[in-house]
Amino acid sequence: MNSQPKTKIMGNYQRLDVSFVKGDRVYLFDKKGRKYLDALSGIAVCGLGHAHPELVELLTNQAKDLWHTSNLYRIEHQEILAEVLTDSAKMDSVFFCNSGAEANEAAIKLCRKFGFDNGIKNPTIITMKGSFHGRTMATLSATGNEKVHHGFSPLLSGFKHVEFGNTDVLKSYLCNPDVVALMVEPIQGEGGIKLPPLNYLRKLRELCTHYRKILVLDEVQSGIGRTGFLFAHQLDGIVPDVLTLAKGLGNGIPVGACLVNNQYSGILGSGTHGSTFGGNPLVCKVALGVLKIINEKAFLGNVTNIGTLMLSEFRSRLNNIAIVKEIRGRGLMIGIELNKDCGELVKKALDRGLLINVASGNVVRLLPPLILSEDEGLKIVEEVTSLIESFNGNA
Ligand SMILES: Cc1ncc(COP(=O)(O)O)c(C=O)c1O
Repeated sequence: MNSQPKTKIMGNYQRLDVSFVKGDRVYLFDKKGRKYLDALSGIAVCGLGHAHPELVELLTNQAKDLWHTSNLYRIEHQEILAEVLTDSAKMDSVFFCNSGAEANEAAIKLCRKFGFDNGIKNPTIITMKGSFHGRTMATLSATGNEKVHHGFSPLLSGFKHVEFGNTDVLKSYLCNPDVVALMVEPIQGEGGIKLPPLNYLRKLRELCTHYRKILVLDEVQSGIGRTGFLFAHQLDGIVPDVLTLAKGLGNGIPVGACLVNNQYSGILGSGTHGSTFGGNPLVCKVALGVLKIINEKAFLGNVTNIGTLMLSEFRSRLNNIAIVKEIRGRGLMIGIELNKDCGELVKKALDRGLLINVASGNVVRLLPPLILSEDEGLKIVEEVTSLIESFNGNA
């Protein structure tokens, strides 16, 4: 597709030949001063956009005071962040780390340790086909996508992948005493913005409670306001047993979190898990700032309103375009599935000054900053519609 610029960076990413040097709200600027509208937020990370003044102030003030100590000591901002997160999620305690994969790694270890503590020799976690949980060996083994597995055998045992959205297939697995947990994204992000049927999470909650299995929700992508709720599962009115977060929590400052409810809170006891950097004063101060802004009145309502507007505009404008298979999403997590691979649209959008992404080969994925205005949302709709129209014309 693009000729790769020659650098000393490993080739595990196919990078576009553009480098941004400045950001402002929903815009990025390259070295030549060209402006780009960001409809991706660094893959669901910069929910509050770029260079948010309140976050800049918090970060710079904290940088003058203290960056890092160690989890060998108490960290005041970490303790406050733990209070805020557990209160918001109605959960009990939290482990801080640096990324989504690490948050899921902690969740997986917790489930296995629960199995061990209960005399289960081969604890198994059910995960979903089409899921994505990260790139470490445990999280890629949990991931339900053979492309992600390819070349990395032997994978970790103890994962069983089942059809996403289907609760009927689950019952036989849940009767198996080796099965300790079920791990699921409320909306599959990397899988192509796939939404399960209505009440799916509620049914999973009921099943996990009934069969005494741990319900792990991976909200690394769908959490922190992305769907118009602080956590996507709040739409369903449920509380998981374990909840993993990262991406939007630090708005670009690396932070991940694995929250646990009361029942499973004691499983990862002293010496069982850790992180050198996790939850240091700097990242926790920023994460607290992010949550304060997202929890302000009207913030999440705005995400819902603009997301709903964008979805309905897409639906009416792309209605008669032959290559468009389905338009789906919630809040500002939007996917447009085409009937053929469309990776080339990413570069075409960039040439027009717009950042988008393609997931799963054929799904245009939009994850714009949550602070975008109605006009900016409509501008994204206009540009993406025009891109898809001309792609359709060339089909
Ligand atoms: C749902 C989900 N879980 C986990 C991850 C892995 O997060 P990270 O790249 O921060 O390790 C991602 C990343 O895209 C994700 O979307």
